[in-house]
Amino acid sequence: MDTFLPERLQEIGDRFRIALANAADEQAIENVRIAFLGRGGEITQARRSIGALPADQRPEAGKVVNEAVVGFEALLAQAGTRVHALLLEAELTHAIDVTFPGTPARTGSIHPLRRTLRDAVAYFRRRGFAVVLGPEIDTTRNNFDALNIPTDHPAREGFDSFYLSPDLLLRPHTSPSQIRTMQAYPPPIAIVAPGKCYRRDAVDARHLYMFHQIEGLLVAPDIHFGHLKGMLTGLCRELFGSQAQVRFRPSFFPFTEPSAEVDVSCPTCKGAQCRTCGGSGWIEIGGSGMVHPNVLLAVGYDSRRISGWAFGIGIERVAMKRYDVNDIRTFVENDPDVLEQLA
Ligand code: DAH
Repeated sequence: MDTFLPERLQEIGDRFRIALANAADEQAIENVRIAFLGRGGEITQARRSIGALPADQRPEAGKVVNEAVVGFEALLAQAGTRVHALLLEAELTHAIDVTFPGTPARTGSIHPLRRTLRDAVAYFRRRGFAVVLGPEIDTTRNNFDALNIPTDHPAREGFDSFYLSPDLLLRPHTSPSQIRTMQAYPPPIAIVAPGKCYRRDAVDARHLYMFHQIEGLLVAPDIHFGHLKGMLTGLCRELFGSQAQVRFRPSFFPFTEPSAEVDVSCPTCKGAQCRTCGGSGWIEIGGSGMVHPNVLLAVGYDSRRISGWAFGIGIERVAMKRYDVNDIRTFVENDPDVLEQLA
């Protein structure tokens, strides 16, 4: 065998090891592999030179070259492992500081509308009222006829409603809960019915086509208007603080007689007249009154033996005042930054 070949491989091997020791990353290792084992690499050239040897020396020479290749490949693999470990270590020691303060998780909060509803409901529950959840789709009878709003009564137009059929609609108020409850149970009745209502209103700073009301109904012998005033005054002080003043303004609703609109002293200016209350010092939050005898009649109650009061309050109106929000759309845009402020 050509004694020159092992020496040459020895010398190539020395340079290979030096090159590999200097390779600091995967790309550098790959460059070394190409330079020595690649198509035009040194070992490949050495292998080609075997062809020029006498035939009887070629098998032995081939074996020597193959052994060299196996050795080279093992060293390449080792170098790969070493570089990988170095990179990992650099990453762990420089990129991750386990003592660095973390990003605090953002905690949620109860939505201002939900909180207002919850507080109003809690006030009545403490006084023994039951909570009723009526359906959002209800009949024209429960929404209008039984509430003393016959077809063609102009008040129906005030409830600009979404109809699903001539007889079914998305409820424009929570008042049908009164009818459903009185129809299902004999007196005495003491309920509140919170929930969503729908009207075909154009959306602006004061209107949404979906909003919330809480309905209240108390029917029993000898109930009078003073009971209503006391209960709603208590509710307003619960929602707006003990300083809140409440005013009952004569009004008209087909389902109550007498009827009154409920005003609360403007919490922004405390009655001193500001822009949010239109200078009046009062905010209107809902309607109320003594249940009309025709409504009692419609559900089969004896209006000579019993009487009752009812009210319906707009939750958005209350929440806007409680949280000093002057655009109702804020409640449905649900910007996390805003909700966080209101929490
Ligand atoms: N349902 C009325 C509305 O949405 C509000 C209302 C007024 C409800 C007087 C009542 C009531 O129960 O007695 O405009």
